[in-house]
Amino acid sequence: MQDLGELEKKWRGAAETAASAEALEAVRVEALGKKGEITGLMKTLGTLAPDERKNFGQQLNLVKDAVTTAIESRKATLGDAAIDARLQSERLDLTLPARPEALGKIHPISQTIDEIIAIFGEMGFGVREGPDIEDDFHNFEALNIPKDHPARQMQDTFYLPAKEDGSQMVLRTHTSPVQVRTMQNEPPPIRVICPGRTYRVDSDMTHSPMFHQVEGLVIDQATHMGHLKGCLQDFCRAFFGIDDLKLRFRPSYFPFTEPSAEVDIGCDRSGRELKLGQGNDWLEILGCGMVHPKVLKNCGLDPEKYQGFAFGMGIERIAMLKYGIPDLRTFYDADLRWMRHYGFMPLDVPSVVGGLTR
Ligand code: PHE
Repeated sequence: MQDLGELEKKWRGAAETAASAEALEAVRVEALGKKGEITGLMKTLGTLAPDERKNFGQQLNLVKDAVTTAIESRKATLGDAAIDARLQSERLDLTLPARPEALGKIHPISQTIDEIIAIFGEMGFGVREGPDIEDDFHNFEALNIPKDHPARQMQDTFYLPAKEDGSQMVLRTHTSPVQVRTMQNEPPPIRVICPGRTYRVDSDMTHSPMFHQVEGLVIDQATHMGHLKGCLQDFCRAFFGIDDLKLRFRPSYFPFTEPSAEVDIGCDRSGRELKLGQGNDWLEILGCGMVHPKVLKNCGLDPEKYQGFAFGMGIERIAMLKYGIPDLRTFYDADLRWMRHYGFMPLDVPSVVGGLTR
């Protein structure tokens, strides 16, 4: 009969010296696999006399357990070694000091969006986003912008190539389609702002083919123009950091609101620079109004039951005013010197409680 002590020594030794996970697996197969040596001996048990079988069987089982344990423990060691090797090779020394000249800055557009979200967030507004490529319904039709409206013409709107059915998708010309989607998908009361990229065929000192807008939407059963005025007044004063900033609501026209207004803020243009919150001049900063009953209906809401207000403004424009940035085009130049000058510290996260950027 085979010397079981030798057998155990042989296979334990093989397991303990296996150099890799693959080598160890080969040892396991040769010893304990279907055709392995130990398994083979197990199969011979049936041919032995009963008391011999008992004795030999017990011992063989001990050997089997010992070899299994040796394989498991070698497996753990090899695994640890692999992790150690990986940690060593991917090591990154975080104690190296950051080079101040390599410090990234937050772009004024991102910072301004964060400030707007902080202020409206405090007033209970949520944030919604939507696709940049829109269909005619969401960008125009639902918003009561008729087929012959000038805004639809080639010089204003970027159209995508026509589909097979002749319809054309557009690059959204404003963020109002996000309001349409919100009204279609969420039951009132609604209180959201929609920041994002917008596109128009226009390019000069004060226009860029891609720019950013934020629009707001409030829908409820008893919302009125007074709420609109109070909301925008609080926003403008908080955003510009001027507690007594004067606001003027000037009657205007938008197809999707009725009545509509444009909002001007008080400023002084008498000196060489523009000063907000002083003097007797006015500067237009946003458009707003009560949501048109037809728009509510187009979005599946009952205008007899619900009403609300909407507003929209250009993010570049209010960022330029707040931070004294003179040329719109510089926002997109990706000029590092400009970013170092106008950018914001990454940890300077705006909040109404912790302080907005001044
Ligand atoms: N969507 C308008 C624009 O792009 C802005 C606006 C929104 C005006 C909501 C009034 C109400 O010009």
